[in-house]
Amino acid sequence: MSAARFYVTTPIPEPALTLLRAAGSVDVPDELPDAARLREVCVSGDYDVVVSQLRDTFDADLLAAAKIRGISNYAVGFNNVDIGAATANSILVGNTPGVLTDATADVAMLLIMATARRAVEADTFVRAGQFTGWEPNLLLGQDVSGRTLGLAGFGRIARATAKRALAFGMQVLFCPRPPGDRPVSDEELGEFAGLVTHTDWDTLVTTSDYLSLHVPLNAQTRHLVDAGVLAAMKPSAILINTARGPVVDETALVAALKSGEITGAGLDVYEDEPALAPGLAELSNTVLLPHLGSATVSVRAEMARLCAENAVAMAQKRIPPHPVNR
Ligand code: DGY
Repeated sequence: MSAARFYVTTPIPEPALTLLRAAGSVDVPDELPDAARLREVCVSGDYDVVVSQLRDTFDADLLAAAKIRGISNYAVGFNNVDIGAATANSILVGNTPGVLTDATADVAMLLIMATARRAVEADTFVRAGQFTGWEPNLLLGQDVSGRTLGLAGFGRIARATAKRALAFGMQVLFCPRPPGDRPVSDEELGEFAGLVTHTDWDTLVTTSDYLSLHVPLNAQTRHLVDAGVLAAMKPSAILINTARGPVVDETALVAALKSGEITGAGLDVYEDEPALAPGLAELSNTVLLPHLGSATVSVRAEMARLCAENAVAMAQKRIPPHPVNR
């Protein structure tokens, strides 16, 4: 078997690079390739597999011209790759499921707590020297325990978030495939049977105190949370997004936050990442993180390992351990 050739668009943790080097040659550019450079790489015929990340876009046009066997995405999400076009062009795609579930659910919970209890505003207040002593009405927030968390989606990360929310004494509702619905059996609910409540999207939107998004980005979920949804939410509600930015119409969100249509938002992802919608950064009723869901040392190392295993399998003409298509 000839040695595999890997192009790794962004440096991944070293143990994973070592795995790749054991199977072939590895090129890692100094900077993330722009679209033109990524195209050159893919059409050159010099590489078997591109190890990519979510800022690398593989559209239908690129995939039709590409002479690569596979794309190993350093992420569980794969909305940066046109999967239909990859499949049509016999290009395998792999991802990194499972290993970032708890870390991302931790960030969802962190955003719930931080927005509810105004942690960022409070931190800014103390650092500015404004704390002059305990006061009955200082920076009052909202309760978490006893409140209702609505989960849009009920995959791995939503379930891990449900587990945390139940431990915080929240009631948990979920809508498995918003904006539509689908049946969920007790068997599928598993350990959550009797603990969480299946509901439709409209009920989820109108009754949740915290609405947390856990859906993949696709044609059905783009702008799932739009002006109409924001208007239907409780005025006291808080929106949490650890999924993908374009699931929310961010311009409509800024308007809803400014007018008091909803109380707050905790965001880890943005519609036009890394840019923010005008006005978002100036709002004090938001907590804004720079896409940190999976950002722990051990999780990123595990993601890199899965990513390298996928890449090596693809280069060796095997089905990767974590395929997105076949
Ligand atoms: C993913 O894996 O899809 C996250 O967004 C980045 O870790």
